[in-house]
Amino acid sequence: MDESMTPHVFLPTTKDAFVVASEVPACEFIHVGKQFGTLEVLRDINLEVRRAEKVALIGPSGSGKSTLLRTLMTLETINAGEIKVNGETLTNGSWTPDQQRSDKPAARARRRRIGMVFQQFNLFPHMTAAENVAVAPRKVLGLPRNEAEERAQKYLSMVGMSAKANELPLRLSGGQQQRVAIARSLAMEPEIMLFDEVTSALDPELVGEVLAVLRKLGEESDLTMLLVTHQMEFARNFADRVAFLWQGQIHEVAEAKSIFDNPTEERTRQFLRAVLESH
Ligand SMILES: Nc1ncnc2c1ncn2[C@@H]1O[C@H](COP(=O)(O)OP(=O)(O)OP(=O)(O)O)[C@@H](O)[C@H]1O
Ligand SMILES: [Mg+2]
Repeated sequence: MDESMTPHVFLPTTKDAFVVASEVPACEFIHVGKQFGTLEVLRDINLEVRRAEKVALIGPSGSGKSTLLRTLMTLETINAGEIKVNGETLTNGSWTPDQQRSDKPAARARRRRIGMVFQQFNLFPHMTAAENVAVAPRKVLGLPRNEAEERAQKYLSMVGMSAKANELPLRLSGGQQQRVAIARSLAMEPEIMLFDEVTSALDPELVGEVLAVLRKLGEESDLTMLLVTHQMEFARNFADRVAFLWQGQIHEVAEAKSIFDNPTEERTRQFLRAVLESH
């Protein structure tokens, strides 16, 4: 049949569907506000993160970086605005706290698209590295034991920890424990990964191995990554965009090179000068 004779098809082809889907931001903060009592911690946060984009959050202590990540992880409720994941509402400031923490299957499914790694790795001390990674896929996702174990091996290998799979956390260095913690999050196969100062609790000589894992993840996966860091050099090389937070607001957001070489806001310039001088 001549192609021009093909009747109009209403369903998108796989390729069209991909194009349309990939244009939906991985996540969006829309006028998000957060208060702790009377303290305004996030104010009118607007940020769209593309799929596979890497965004670094920088800013002084108390500027709201961790809180921003925690609202996306739904570890904190919000008081205003909306957060969307894949175009779907994750949480809305007009919902009650209980609604925001809703444990309904749909809410749980949206949350599962997001994983987070913290400064403190908090591995289960009585479980081996492999068991730490396999436990959530087994208990939360309901994978059979052998599949969960295979998955654990896969992600331990991705972070370069296969050789220590059967060790207890106590016998691992801080850097190794943090790599296991990263594998543990990855094993839930999220689309968005949040990293909150994941190298801050490490001895300086162990920082590099964890940053190398992040770099590899950035290069080899299409994960969307939001990362709070005080390592400016890393942020510059790793991130597509950098957001500078100041007093609960995104004061400036720009491509990494441009914000470091040529910040437009005076506050950003002051912050960068202070941080770079202290190193
Ligand atoms: N659970 C809480 N209850 C009350 N206030 C809080 C709570 N968590 C954070 N805050 C306050 O919110 C503000 C932002 O804190 P947040 O931890 O997001 O800052 P940050 O930018 O991550 O700082 P740091 O670089 O020190 O980690 C701070 O003033 C902090 O004291
Ligand atoms: Mg913080």
